[in-house]
Amino acid sequence: MNNYKNKTAVISGGAEGIGFAIAQAMGEQGMNIVLGDIDAAQLKEAQAKLEAQGVPVLAVEMDVTLPSSWANIAEQAIERFGKVHMLVNNAGVASAPGPIEATNHKDWQWVIDVNLKGVVFGAEAIVPLIKQHGEGGWMVNVASMAGMIGVPYAGAYTATKVAVVGMSESWNVELSKHNIHVAALCPAFVKTRIHLSHRNRQEEHRDLERKPDPKAAPKHNAAQELVENGIAPEIVGQRVVEALNAKELYIFTHPAQRQVAQQRSAAIDQAFERAENSPLLADVKEQDPITFS
Ligand SMILES: NC(=O)c1ccc[n+]([C@@H]2O[C@H](COP(=O)([O-])OP(=O)(O)OC[C@H]3O[C@@H](n4cnc5c(N)ncnc54)[C@H](O)[C@@H]3O)[C@@H](O)[C@H]2O)c1
Repeated sequence: MNNYKNKTAVISGGAEGIGFAIAQAMGEQGMNIVLGDIDAAQLKEAQAKLEAQGVPVLAVEMDVTLPSSWANIAEQAIERFGKVHMLVNNAGVASAPGPIEATNHKDWQWVIDVNLKGVVFGAEAIVPLIKQHGEGGWMVNVASMAGMIGVPYAGAYTATKVAVVGMSESWNVELSKHNIHVAALCPAFVKTRIHLSHRNRQEEHRDLERKPDPKAAPKHNAAQELVENGIAPEIVGQRVVEALNAKELYIFTHPAQRQVAQQRSAAIDQAFERAENSPLLADVKEQDPITFS
């Protein structure tokens, strides 16, 4: 039996790219879709496309960095569909990569506000709605492979995506007693407009003083090329359905990246081995590990 039929998903950044692909995939499963996005024109187009496919849609213009926007979309979702069962925290942005000493604090703040605080505010507003009907549900947080391995010259983006993976792990345990499954989606490159994130940068996050950094340009172009050669977002949308059906916590879309995760866990394991052999730590070696369930 279809688990999703007539249930409702709220998807941030759902007007295009990965968010829209997830909306299509969940719509195909029979869900009602609430799209939230900062881009009003794209949002209208997305709504029309989904409606043409027979999916019940509510489209709400929003900025994920504002709790008031989340309160509004939550209220409208309940008014239209009665209940909410799924939150997809997808809206995210990438700033131009660059070396540490070229850190631009406006960039950091923007990336943290959208990619990290946007997810926190989304959870605060929507999780109580999923808890309140007692039928259980899902939260999918769109992280990245950057949440699994530090990406050089992309400290801000990496920091937020590692945080999204960490929060997903915490919330998965915390919400399991409410029958709410939490997953962290960790794609590598997907063919979207993420490299053009500045198109939606809010006025207060703009840096009018900023001059383009010529040294950063080649790397930025490299990132653009990788994104343009990325996998189709539709595959990611379908993969989310497949992985939710299997109750996966980490949703991967690029199997070749497995060795990246393996190298990281091998390095951590070796570091623990060195700690185990350190005479300084002999007294605490036999302590019980801290586990959460
Ligand atoms: N494309 C990739 O290669 C890739 C890889 C890994 C992870 N991701 C993640 O996937 C998610 C979706 O990105 P995408 O690749 O589809 O990019 P995209 O730029 O095509 O889509 C992002 C969507 O978010 C919306 N958005 C941006 N700021 C917003 C805000 N403040 N409030 C509400 N909506 C806002 C945009 O209007 C757009 O519709 C992001 O979290 C991104 O970090 C993308």
